[in-house]
Amino acid sequence: MSNNLLMGVVIFMIQMFNVSKTYSNEVKALVDVNVRIQKGSFVFLVGPSGAGKSTFIKLIFREEAPTRGQILFDGKSLVRMREREVPYLRRQIGVVFQDFRLLPNKTVYDNIAFAMEIVEAPTKRIRQRVPQVLEMVGLGKKGNLMPHQLSGGEQQRVSIARAIVNEPMLIIADEPTGNLDPETATEIMNLLLEINRRGTTIIMATHAKDIVDSLRRRVIALENGRIVRDEERGSYEQGSSASLPGSLAQGGYIQPGGTVLPGNNSQSLYSLQERGALR
Ligand SMILES: Nc1ncnc2c1ncn2[C@@H]1O[C@H](COP(=O)(O)OP(=O)(O)OP(=O)(O)O)[C@@H](O)[C@H]1O
Ligand SMILES: [Mg+2]
Repeated sequence: MSNNLLMGVVIFMIQMFNVSKTYSNEVKALVDVNVRIQKGSFVFLVGPSGAGKSTFIKLIFREEAPTRGQILFDGKSLVRMREREVPYLRRQIGVVFQDFRLLPNKTVYDNIAFAMEIVEAPTKRIRQRVPQVLEMVGLGKKGNLMPHQLSGGEQQRVSIARAIVNEPMLIIADEPTGNLDPETATEIMNLLLEINRRGTTIIMATHAKDIVDSLRRRVIALENGRIVRDEERGSYEQGSSASLPGSLAQGGYIQPGGTVLPGNNSQSLYSLQERGALR
């Protein structure tokens, strides 16, 4: 028996083995991708438009199936997974999109509650949990508003609250700051960093060079469907030096203007610690 089995613990959130994805129009979106992402890590997925970032993300929550290869989520095969098991997989993954994707005719509160109703959470738990996550994302007083009454940054906070409400193991975010001004993007990043600091794995596709370069997390770069770079404390472009030392960035927060504060700094913009537990 391997140590892995003896311990009963899988340390990888995602493992991909020789994964390729060819769409029906013969476009090769991913070609022979091999990657392992540890639980608890924060990973940036970068690369030019059309490189395959969104496809990579869609494979993880089984929005798309690979044409070839194997994908393991928490040690379980997504290729062999039955259709009826997919809802269970999706309970363990929160997804955040560039365009927020809130239900326009539901209040902020109901948008989040709906994600719990889908997984048949008890009413009592919903009433307890929704205000908790609203508070956590800084929208404690806005539960009764409709999405169109919120700013873009606030809408993205709602979508993050919705993504974490069922306490997923993994958050995947596809360009979550793509529609936001730099300052609001910084706030959203700090929220995601705090969620990660509390143990949730995060995979984020982005074109935001400043964010990637200031945080120095793992960077997986795709080009034409292939992984061309995978660095532990990476930057947006190969060999970029436009950043602070990684030791400072690790566990830190970004200030407006791009300065990174070390973790546990009392000046962190959205230190959720003071606002109540995530779990
Ligand atoms: N459903 C689909 N059917 C056919 N081709 C697709 C489909 N989705 C994506 N593609 C193609 O696959 C390739 C990878 O697309 P993908 O959306 O993964 O790129 P991306 O890196 O997310 O790009 P962007 O930065 O613009 O979001 C592109 O050539 C795209 O046109
Ligand atoms: Mg994309």
